[in-house]
Amino acid sequence: MATKDVITKVWIEEGCIVCDACETTAPDVFEVTEDSCLIRPAAMSADFTKPRTDDIVDAAEECPVDVIQFETVSEEVADAPAVESPASGSPAAEATSEVSASPAADVKAAAPAKAAAPAKAAAPKVAAPKVSVAGAPDPAIQALLRAATARGGAAGVLQSDEGSPAVKAWDKTSSADLPPDAKQSKVMSSAKKVEEGLSRRGLLAGSAMGIGWLSLGATTAISGVAFQRFMMPNVLEEPDPKVRVGPAEVYASMLPGEVNEDFKPQGFWLIRTDDGISALNIICTHLGCIPNWLANDRKFKCPCHGSGFYSDGINFEGPAPRPLERFKIVLIDGNILVDRSKKFQYEKGEWENPDSYITV
Ligand code: FES
Repeated sequence: MATKDVITKVWIEEGCIVCDACETTAPDVFEVTEDSCLIRPAAMSADFTKPRTDDIVDAAEECPVDVIQFETVSEEVADAPAVESPASGSPAAEATSEVSASPAADVKAAAPAKAAAPAKAAAPKVAAPKVSVAGAPDPAIQALLRAATARGGAAGVLQSDEGSPAVKAWDKTSSADLPPDAKQSKVMSSAKKVEEGLSRRGLLAGSAMGIGWLSLGATTAISGVAFQRFMMPNVLEEPDPKVRVGPAEVYASMLPGEVNEDFKPQGFWLIRTDDGISALNIICTHLGCIPNWLANDRKFKCPCHGSGFYSDGINFEGPAPRPLERFKIVLIDGNILVDRSKKFQYEKGEWENPDSYITV
């Protein structure tokens, strides 16, 4: 008999930024209000949350501030239906429930809860985003973008990671012709897909042997998954912070004040200033939502609490206490490389740093 971890309780800890991402992903579980997020009354029962395990796990993974917590139990499911999502409401998925008697199963901590994430079914409802050689989209950013769009913001700004001409050009380039960092990104993309496949197969195999492991004292049923994650190098889980955005001449032709949104899914806008080109971090400096670029108004507007930023990222309205941040940007053989691991803050005088912009 196979086993599967299912969620019996979900709750929100302090620190919610009311970004709407969780309600967008699991609307029957989460309700985002003016100043917080609530668990809907119906979702306070294990019978309700169990079949929605995948959606809740997705919402927790996408939460930019990690305030969604949950606890799980391991349930036995029939072998054949084990590959089906419990979200389908399969009676088999709810048939024989074996709740771990160990108090460890009730530990209200993010780590064990998140360890249940790979317990998602073999056929998840939401496909993993395609990883571009230009840089992997961040799940939390994707969720925030969906939420910002759902709020009625500038929906048209949401683009797929393969929508940009520059990205398409890189995608068509064979590995042999790619620069070293782009090659690495492509390799990591492939490795990540392999890892995802291993995680799902590993889970099924681990579940099939679950009873055996349990007899050896592994009472929480997450040890197999935890062991697998321990064995997998962490580097495969980290998206490459470096993103190649293509030839500088493409962006040099932009007019001062113009904003390129091709790489919003990767977490930045490319902006043309009087001095040159910069990469603006799309995270609002108030509480972390994602503003929309309103081309007609020539400003970034945050849908969460109304902060406004000029096209160069300087804040001028709303509660945001400081300008948007810049990422490191460099020119290599006529192509632009953005490094998301290095940020520059205006209020610290860091925009004077030559790595925060390139001149054209
Ligand atoms: Fe509050 Fe942007 S997060 S204004």
